Formats: sequence, structure tokens, C-alpha cells
Amino acid sequence: MDSDLIDIHRTLVIIKPDAVQRGLVGEVVRRFEHKGLKLVGLKLFNLPSEKAKELYQPHHGKSFYNYLIEFMTSSPIVAICLEGVNAIDIVRMINGATKPTEAQPGSIRGDYSIDITRNVVHASDSVENAARELAILFDPSELNEYQRIDDGILYSPEC
Ligand code: CMP
Repeated sequence: MDSDLIDIHRTLVIIKPDAVQRGLVGEVVRRFEHKGLKLVGLKLFNLPSEKAKELYQPHHGKSFYNYLIEFMTSSPIVAICLEGVNAIDIVRMINGATKPTEAQPGSIRGDYSIDITRNVVHASDSVENAARELAILFDPSELNEYQRIDDGILYSPEC
């Protein structure tokens, strides 16, 4: 496969502390798996403060920044690396809009969140940010290369 030609992307998803506390991990992972996205890395852990600050560095200085860091380090998160054709855009569509008033029913945030910070999931918003964010949360040895048994039926032969 030539990933440049067919845009196979890897992206970071974080299942946030609110969703882990509410028992939504299985429901969130189910949506990505059933779409056809491949689980490449997955782990549950307490996000260290320095990693949270690195991850959310682009938001440093915004009014919600301190609260966001406090929340993201308050209890365990699940970090996931997903892979698939156009995975970055597809995951953002499955997650739904950040603002609770804009997240469509059927999306994860539209169905499960009502707060802009406690909004169940985070996902990378570009190829560059996905690479940056994955490097913060995953060691390369934690990312798994394998064929899913349904790859042959999920994708057209030219993929
Ligand atoms: P996330 O996808 O994790 O990326 C940055 C996070 O900042 C975002 O989801 C929200 O949880 C949070 N955020 C963005 N805008 C606001 C805001 N206006 N007020 C509070 N939190 C926000």
C-alpha cells in the first residue's frame, strides 16, 4: 500500500476522564472499530501534568487552559491510536463538534456530552498535530503494525 496516494492516516483519540468515569470506554471504542478504523495503540493511564501541558500547548494562555489541564489530569484517560483512510477527518466527524450546541445527535459528543470541557473525547485535527500528539502519548514500541482480517472487504481493491 502507498499511504501517500490513498491518505492512510494515524490519529490520536483521548477518551477523557469524564467518559472513563461514566463507563463509556467500550461505547466510544465500538464506534471507531465498527466504522472500520484500526486500533494501533490503546492504553489506560493517568495523564501526567507535563504531558497534558505539552499536548494542549496550542491552548496555553486561553481562559479555559488551567481548568482543561486540571480536568485532564484528574483521573485516568484512555489514549488510542487509530489508523485508516482519511482517519483524521473521519474521527473528527464521529466525535462531533466541540461546542455542545453544535454537536449533532449521532456523534459521540452529540449523544454523550453537554459541557465544552467535559466532552468525552479529544482527537487530532491535522496530520501534523496527529504526529505531534501521538509522539507525546505513545512510545513507538506501543504502536502495532498488523492487518485487520476485514481489511479486504472494508476497502476497494485499488486501496
Ligand atoms: P479538545 O478536543 O480536547 O481540544 C481542546 C479542548 O479545550 C476542547 O476539546 C475542549 O474540551 C476545551 N475547550 C475548547 N474551547 C473551550 C472553551 N471555550 N471553554 C472551555 N473549554 C474549551
